[in-house]
Amino acid sequence: MIRLGIVGCGKVTTMFHLKAIGEVDEVTVAAVADLDKARMEDVKRKSGAERGYTDPKELLSDPSVEVVAINTPPRFHEETVIEALRAGKHVLCEKPLAQSVEGCARIKEAQGGSGLVVLPVHNYAFTPCLETARGIVVSGEIGKIQRIGLRFDNNLWSYGPKTDFRMKEEFSIVEDLLPHVLSVVQAFTGPVRSVEEARGRRKRHDVMDDLSLVMETEDGVRVEGSMNWTSLIPAFKASVEGESGRLEMDLMK
Ligand SMILES: NC(=O)c1ccc[n+]([C@@H]2O[C@H](COP(=O)([O-])OP(=O)(O)OC[C@H]3O[C@@H](n4cnc5c(N)ncnc54)[C@H](O)[C@@H]3O)[C@@H](O)[C@H]2O)c1
Repeated sequence: MIRLGIVGCGKVTTMFHLKAIGEVDEVTVAAVADLDKARMEDVKRKSGAERGYTDPKELLSDPSVEVVAINTPPRFHEETVIEALRAGKHVLCEKPLAQSVEGCARIKEAQGGSGLVVLPVHNYAFTPCLETARGIVVSGEIGKIQRIGLRFDNNLWSYGPKTDFRMKEEFSIVEDLLPHVLSVVQAFTGPVRSVEEARGRRKRHDVMDDLSLVMETEDGVRVEGSMNWTSLIPAFKASVEGESGRLEMDLMK
């Protein structure tokens, strides 16, 4: 049995993580932590955890915890991942793993040689239809990839986060939805190396809530990505165009 500790007891924990954990027999929640006592107590009760902390450092030094899920706002990810690794824990970290490339490199350095796993939550990379599409691309059926189109429609209001960390202009939709888009690109081709065009707008929030990007990967594939927080019906649609065929998928199905 894997003994998990959860740091951050907000919406992603109650809406997604607890549901997924409930479907896996091999995982039990040993401890939870949140700066907010009421949210911590709520998730402790729902998960059946034995211990709850309002100081995440206490969870990281709890010897009964083997793996830590870091579900806090992004600005705490880097330091919490590194502290968890130093405490000898495996890590599952919500996206984005860190707020800078340098932050990711510091995590890599802290992990180096430890034998501990650090898994960023790029959940769409594990969607069954994406696995199927990747198999088709690898088989050569649609030929060399020319273009990838991605559209992430979300509705922040109906999602209902517990805190307002997304309302910072410098991060906004960029750190919220772009990591998902990039993780899907990398399932098919090399990483994005340049942004050719960018157009951001504030439609219903005080920060950028609608973003379109034209990018190019290091393999020369053109990527057209758009994402927003203002759609009525959430969907994450992807199309992969090759020299001799095209694949379409909805990664939320
Ligand atoms: N993979 C996905 O599809 C997906 C979906 C939604 C959110 N997320 C990610 O999950 C993370 C959390 O988002 P959310 O929507 O749950 O936010 P939220 O505002 O609903 O919850 C954040 C929680 O973290 C707590 N917190 C803040 N600082 C803390 C700290 N230092 N230590 C412990 N707890 C702390 C807050 O009190 C709050 O309960 C973000 O990184 C977000 O990008 C991922």
